[in-house]
Amino acid sequence: MKDAIINAEDVRFSYVTAEGVAPIVLDGVSLSIEEGSFVAVLGHNGSGKSTLAKHFNSILLPTGGKVYVDGMDTADEELLLSIRRTVGMVFQNPDNQIVANVVEEDVAFAPENLGVPPEEIRLRVDDALKAVGMYEFREHAPHLLSGGQKQRIAIAGVIAMQPRCIVLDEPTAMLDPIGRADVLRTIKELNRQRGVTVVLITHHMDEAAQADRLVVMTKGRVIADGAPKEIFQDVEGLKAVGLTVPETTQLLWELRQEGLDVPLDALSDEECAQALKELLA
Ligand SMILES: Nc1ncnc2c1ncn2[C@@H]1O[C@H](COP(=O)(O)OP(=O)(O)OP(=O)(O)O)[C@@H](O)[C@H]1O
Ligand SMILES: [Mg+2]
Repeated sequence: MKDAIINAEDVRFSYVTAEGVAPIVLDGVSLSIEEGSFVAVLGHNGSGKSTLAKHFNSILLPTGGKVYVDGMDTADEELLLSIRRTVGMVFQNPDNQIVANVVEEDVAFAPENLGVPPEEIRLRVDDALKAVGMYEFREHAPHLLSGGQKQRIAIAGVIAMQPRCIVLDEPTAMLDPIGRADVLRTIKELNRQRGVTVVLITHHMDEAAQADRLVVMTKGRVIADGAPKEIFQDVEGLKAVGLTVPETTQLLWELRQEGLDVPLDALSDEECAQALKELLA
């Protein structure tokens, strides 16, 4: 097995609010993210996904337990910069992540803050914009772009820091279907072609289905962890915690309820079509 880039060990967390310490939000989460993998995190609203993600680059520190990024303890203040260089974060709303009036200046912002020399920044910005398919927009004004394009610019800004891992918290939640598909394709290419470790938090089952591994959270705990094909077969278990399954699985599950002999693990559209073809043969 490859080394873990992120290691969460029995992480507990409560937000401190004006009224005092709030209820437990993370209730003993242990999770190891293998370098180079593409992991999706699912869970209904309030299950603690964003809170967990913020532990992965020291935005939040555990109340109990430990988080290690490439072996670095996230609670060690002296390691903060190294941790932020290793794990980049992308959030839901692209408008909140755009900081400059020109695309390439926006992408240059983070590496400039890291003290990367100007000639190196030039190379990194061009490379990052090509990686997200937005190079030809480098001199455009970001606020005039579509939501999906803006989100890809935000991803380029993170890529320009050359992180080994990128954590995306519902990056497609505010996008239309085309923007959503473009962003997901970009994320997959970063993982497959550049070997960037990806942690994708999503409410979209079709996106989660494309990951190597699915982690399902409920009430601050991990309740399932495995390959999408395995996890989605537990249709009733997922429904019980307020989640759905991909449309392919749902269709096959309903056919099985009717007594038809179809597999439940035909997750992609092609596999599902094949299963139906065999049924009709
Ligand atoms: N800044 C905060 N202060 C106090 N409580 C918070 C804060 N942020 C989140 N919470 C609470 O922590 C719990 C977990 O929230 P979190 O945002 O991690 O869930 P989530 O799984 O990301 O949900 P969603 O799917 O809605 O994004 C919720 O009960 C939420 O109300
Ligand atoms: Mg969230």
